[in-house]
Amino acid sequence: MSSHGVPVPMSSSKCGPLKGRADVPGDKSISHRSLILGAMAVGETRITGLLEGEDVLDTGRAMRAFGAEVTDHGGGEWSVHGVGVGGFAEPENVIDCGNSGTGVRLIMGAMASTPIVATFTGDASLNGRPMARVTDPLALFGAEAVGRTGGRLPMTIVGAKEPVPVRYVTPVPSAQVKSAVLLAGLNAPGQTVVIEKEATRDHTERMLQGFGAELTVEDTDEGHVITLTGQPELKPQVITVPRDPSSAAFPVCAALITEGSDVLVPNIGLNPTRAGLFETLRDMGADLTYENERTEGGEPMADLRARYSPNMKGIEVPPARAASMIDEYPVLSVVAANASGPTVMRGVKELRVKESDRIDAMATGLRANGVEVEDGPDWWIVQGRGMGNVQGGAECASHLDHRIAMSFLVLGMSTIDPVRVDDAGPVATSFPIFEPLMAKLGAKITRRNA
Ligand code: S3P
Repeated sequence: MSSHGVPVPMSSSKCGPLKGRADVPGDKSISHRSLILGAMAVGETRITGLLEGEDVLDTGRAMRAFGAEVTDHGGGEWSVHGVGVGGFAEPENVIDCGNSGTGVRLIMGAMASTPIVATFTGDASLNGRPMARVTDPLALFGAEAVGRTGGRLPMTIVGAKEPVPVRYVTPVPSAQVKSAVLLAGLNAPGQTVVIEKEATRDHTERMLQGFGAELTVEDTDEGHVITLTGQPELKPQVITVPRDPSSAAFPVCAALITEGSDVLVPNIGLNPTRAGLFETLRDMGADLTYENERTEGGEPMADLRARYSPNMKGIEVPPARAASMIDEYPVLSVVAANASGPTVMRGVKELRVKESDRIDAMATGLRANGVEVEDGPDWWIVQGRGMGNVQGGAECASHLDHRIAMSFLVLGMSTIDPVRVDDAGPVATSFPIFEPLMAKLGAKITRRNA
């Protein structure tokens, strides 16, 4: 659905080659963190290249509700006048985080060690997602949470009056959980320690260091040990948000499965905690090259060049790679359907608690379009039909999930018959320019009547 609640049905059909340059928007994870950390710094943070998707705009509105001054200067230029660590004011109204798990979980963490009360809500997708994974560790700081049965939103968090620092081993591989704990640790005296067994995206750690917090990361037998010294004064920053590898995934995968394509996706961050999809595609035999490899702002970057790759083979995706490509499995399954042989994806339980149950959403839509898929609690196997051999012709439900909607629209570029998506409105949460960007490359994505 669009932000005003009206479904936006679309269909996608076979097109000529995709050609040209795809300038994808700013990184969603870094955009959220830029606004939140900017709001917790003292003084003005300037941000260039902010993702202006609904998820991030909701976080911007939330930061205003907590007392920060957030200004849109146009063209992706934003500024945030922060109130300092521990300086959040109590919001007068319910905080609506829309579709965004990252937004709500990080903001809950950021306010949980301040003696204020805030109530959070979201859309039907977000209100169905588990929050105990965040509120359990926040309780250790002294915060209280009261939500609906099963730890769901709407939920009220009563921030700790006298927060204590915490040592927490994350029970699930989740950057959102790790980040919520670290943000809560900012206003606790002493050292907060987070231990994760599998490395997840590390933007919070890198950015906290950039904002001047004392934070160390050590690899030990226990896992990744992150130690943060509480109550720093965060210094405002000038941030250039890199482009989002998770958005780059869509034009890259579309080019790989559309005959004759040659697409350049410039300036993509290849932080190893995010780049798992591209490695996987290369392992499958994709003609995907990294051009102009460089380091910017401490992050590895490259221009991605994806060309039509008719002979890709299914593989067993290493489960250890899951966290570094967790948002990319839906579109990987579309490429897998066009490869030869099975693609086996294991260790991916987390896919079941994203904006939708992504294994179920993709498996159902792929099956309806003629692809054989098996699935279990934390695994799924897509039987590749070979390039261009997927029948298509069916309607797929997006379940309020942007990545499901975009994945099925990419599928339609390779199928014999067009693929329909019941509601592509959620695409606006992370990739508001998806339609014009894909159209410019040569895709045939059209809006239908509801
Ligand atoms: C994100 C972490 C991931 C990812 C989400 C963004 C983040 O979620 O799926 O899109 O910015 O921290 P989990 O931490 O729940 O795996």
